[in-house]
Amino acid sequence: MAVSIKSKTEIEKMRESCRLLEKVFAHLASMIEPGISTLEIDREGEKEIRACGGIPNFKNYEGYPASICTSVNDEVVHGIPKKNVILQEGDIISLDAGLIYNNYHSDMARTFGVGSISAEAQRLIDATKQSFFEGIKKARAGCHLYDISNAIADYIDGFGYGIVQDLVGHGIGTKLHEDPQIPNFRQARRGIRLRAGMTLAIEPMITAGTWEVEWLDDDWTVVTADGSLAAHYENTVLITDGEPEILTMSGLI
Ligand code: MF3
Ligand code: CO
Repeated sequence: MAVSIKSKTEIEKMRESCRLLEKVFAHLASMIEPGISTLEIDREGEKEIRACGGIPNFKNYEGYPASICTSVNDEVVHGIPKKNVILQEGDIISLDAGLIYNNYHSDMARTFGVGSISAEAQRLIDATKQSFFEGIKKARAGCHLYDISNAIADYIDGFGYGIVQDLVGHGIGTKLHEDPQIPNFRQARRGIRLRAGMTLAIEPMITAGTWEVEWLDDDWTVVTADGSLAAHYENTVLITDGEPEILTMSGLI
């Protein structure tokens, strides 16, 4: 498994790609309200990505038909935007977006409430977000890859939530998915040693019920096997000799 170490120039390109993505993402987040369709979010996302000189990296990726993944309620990830999926008060929606700029990929995801949502849904969203921050406490040169996985799992286990195992985080750079794979569930081994210059997309996918997921007939949409709610939180992160740099989180969203 060859994990690439990015040079200073490459890191600057990653930063730029991530900065643009965060801007697009913040705009999409502001569109979320009851009555909007997931297709409208996708259309706007693709338009904005192209307007800033980027290329939507999800579009046509292994045949994925859209630029933004829109996953509602029990949909975990890779929900396909549709004209007839209209957000309703009380729903939760995960947006996952990415782009290529100057040949470098960026990738991020957040889960949002639509209007006012149940306390349980909010708790799931908050715990999923916090699990990312627990994970990146270990995203430092000298730590091992699975220290991140175990930190996420330790935190989530305290809630009794399910941790999705069939999908994982990943290295990112000139490709959307590079080595290494980054599981969010407990690992018995340590994994590779982290080094400054690695760029990783760390993305816990957490459910309010079982960890088991299924694929819908569209072959993309991943749903919880028991119909429970799911949340997703992802950033592209740079490993440094000190604190990790969260490239898709400059403060906009
Ligand atoms: N954030 C997702 C991932 O890392 C996005 C890829 S979805 C696809 O796998 F649509 F591009 F396939
Ligand atoms: Co990703």
